[in-house]
Amino acid sequence: MNTPIVIGQTVMDFIGGEWRPAVSEKWTERFDPADSSVLVARAPDSSREDARRAVEAAAGASQAWREWAPPKRGRLLFAWLAWLDANKDKLAELLTREEGKILPESIGEVRRAMDILEYTAGMGRRLSGQVFPAEEDGVFCYSTPQPLGVVGLISPWNFPVAIPVWKLAPALIAGNTAVLKPSPLTPLTATMLVRGLEEVGIPPGVVNLVHGDSAPGEELIANEAVRGVSFTGSTKVGRIIAQSGSQRLLKLQLELGGKNPQIVLEDADLDQAVNGVMVGGLGSTGQRCTATSRAIVMDKVYDDFLARLVERASTMRVGPGIEPGVEMGPLVDSRALGGVTRWVDVGRKEGAVFCTGGTRLTEPGRDRGFFFAPTVVEARPGMEITEEEIFGPVVAVIRVREIDEAIRIANAVRYGLTSTIFTRDVGRVFRFAERAEAGIIHVNRPGIGGYSHAPFGGIKESGYGGREVGDEVMTFYTETKVVYVNYK
Ligand code: UN1
Repeated sequence: MNTPIVIGQTVMDFIGGEWRPAVSEKWTERFDPADSSVLVARAPDSSREDARRAVEAAAGASQAWREWAPPKRGRLLFAWLAWLDANKDKLAELLTREEGKILPESIGEVRRAMDILEYTAGMGRRLSGQVFPAEEDGVFCYSTPQPLGVVGLISPWNFPVAIPVWKLAPALIAGNTAVLKPSPLTPLTATMLVRGLEEVGIPPGVVNLVHGDSAPGEELIANEAVRGVSFTGSTKVGRIIAQSGSQRLLKLQLELGGKNPQIVLEDADLDQAVNGVMVGGLGSTGQRCTATSRAIVMDKVYDDFLARLVERASTMRVGPGIEPGVEMGPLVDSRALGGVTRWVDVGRKEGAVFCTGGTRLTEPGRDRGFFFAPTVVEARPGMEITEEEIFGPVVAVIRVREIDEAIRIANAVRYGLTSTIFTRDVGRVFRFAERAEAGIIHVNRPGIGGYSHAPFGGIKESGYGGREVGDEVMTFYTETKVVYVNYK
């Protein structure tokens, strides 16, 4: 399979170093979210049996791979990085065509994946344990990080390049072999990533790719040979995975939903604060776990803030992400469109005031895609629209009178991924940073993203089983072995 990956292509599973269809020879089709009459890919609708074969291949490759010296594994990852660099424009284009986000966002995502890969590949020379003082004469005691063996990686459609890379890279550098199960909505990017690994010489079985919906994922959770599963997706599915995985004490890392607040105090730079919501709430069409979906704004600046936000949101250019100048792409599919539409209806019934948006966009040029208008509503705490994850371009603005009330409302949801504040008051910055219930805090910057070497993840129902990215990710991808040697 050395031909380039193109729009409309039929892609395959990659098991034990070979590209093959599902055993059942069933397929699923993916259409362009900006124009649902255009087929972007056909991919295997794999079953548990396909996943089982992939796990077997990964288990077979495990011993040899863990014996590779870590810097040698690192060199292979650096080669993958070079391959991504050479193919980044193509990859970004596929990303936009199958996921929908605008091209500059896709380019940014590929860049982020490359940065994370660069940091993680270097871990080949940093993975180390500890030496402990002996309790007895003549004993040498040390610890060393060990791979788990086979890991299952279940990745979502919304960051179909960055997330597979930020799971695969640490899994591999630590000496694990992997089965990647990407979202059925983004088969092209996943295939291209794995193709890159194949081209730089990943040994057969070390990385396996199984397309499909929930069945192959279920096999990864159930199969005893899989020692760890890392999943990014909804809290609902995460809870099901945790329930079934815990039956066999499966090691899990779950990166889940969010209902992320942005507090705006009266001394905030309002342009900066409005930009925070534009980027954090409406960027990626609001389809990110870190999306800023609540703006909690002090009474004194509320009207001014809302007016500026509505002005910006209502004049945003919404269209196919591939077109130059477009600022927001479509929702990912008809299901997402249905979900956002239902939440907007819930908000209407609850009495939220719609300042802009709230409807699907269906004029010529947008009538075959899943476009939704950037939406800003005024709402009150306690409404479902201010508490439930919508995963679309919908921002609820809430009026508050003082900072403690703002922090209380910010924390009063079951999620805890990111929390953001705009203020110039250093005392209030630290008070907020201390009290905010979230894994990631942003001050005077949009509440999304994160450095490629810093831990990423949330608390409460946003995350389970440790952080991704940075060095901390290794607590998931390795186990510590402690060795006592009596040399007397
Ligand atoms: C970001 O904040 O830029 O699924 C990335 C998600 C997250 C990634 C968000 N895991 O949306």
